Amino acid sequence: MAAPLRLAVLASGRGSNLQAILDAIGDGVLDATVVGVFSDRAGAKALERARGAGIAAVAVTPAHFDSRDGFDAALFEAIEAVQPDLIVCAGYMRLLGAAQVEAWKGRMINIHPSLLPLFKGLRTHEQALAAGALEHGASVHFVSAELDGGPVIAQTRVAVVPGEDAAALAARVLDREHPLLLATLGLFAARRLRLDGGSVMLDGRRLARPLQLAGTELVEIEA
Ligand code: GRF
Repeated sequence: MAAPLRLAVLASGRGSNLQAILDAIGDGVLDATVVGVFSDRAGAKALERARGAGIAAVAVTPAHFDSRDGFDAALFEAIEAVQPDLIVCAGYMRLLGAAQVEAWKGRMINIHPSLLPLFKGLRTHEQALAAGALEHGASVHFVSAELDGGPVIAQTRVAVVPGEDAAALAARVLDREHPLLLATLGLFAARRLRLDGGSVMLDGRRLARPLQLAGTELVEIEA
């Protein structure tokens, strides 16, 4: 059996996705270990959660650096010191440096609360409601140079309830984000996923479309 997957988690705020990972590891349902949690905000709840779990919690604060490049270099120096297999961006609200994105291509993922390629960037729930979307959701994708633009690995779909507001929709999507992220990490932990050029490979086969969450499992959907 492969060694537990070493995860570095990047988070700017609340850290509910981080907590879902920690709980799944604690419950023995995810064969991984969180080797460090990194944030651009010293007060992030995610760092508190990491400390509570006895995990290295590191704040790298942009204001302490003269340049973007200096910040990116310091952040990745700290991340690389814990030797992760995979970097998981879970609510990390800053753009990552281009050189670091390139160096970690295929080994860095992000969870984004929309059905990519729809509604990139911020306030995705508001965007979905404003567009009159009947369906919304979340995506896990490989990080590429384009914001929220890398190859999508897996998605969860949530029907929009007529008349609901963005906060209600966000809460229902978040509820499905956690199993989505955990199921995706399960495939990484089993060494079943990788990136080949621009293609997501599952068990050595190119995925024609993102995996879809059904309950707590990821499934392949026919076109
Ligand atoms: C999630 O909605 C995630 O998809 C987005 O930011 C939010 C982070 O939530 N990228 P949390 O910090 O994990 O609770």
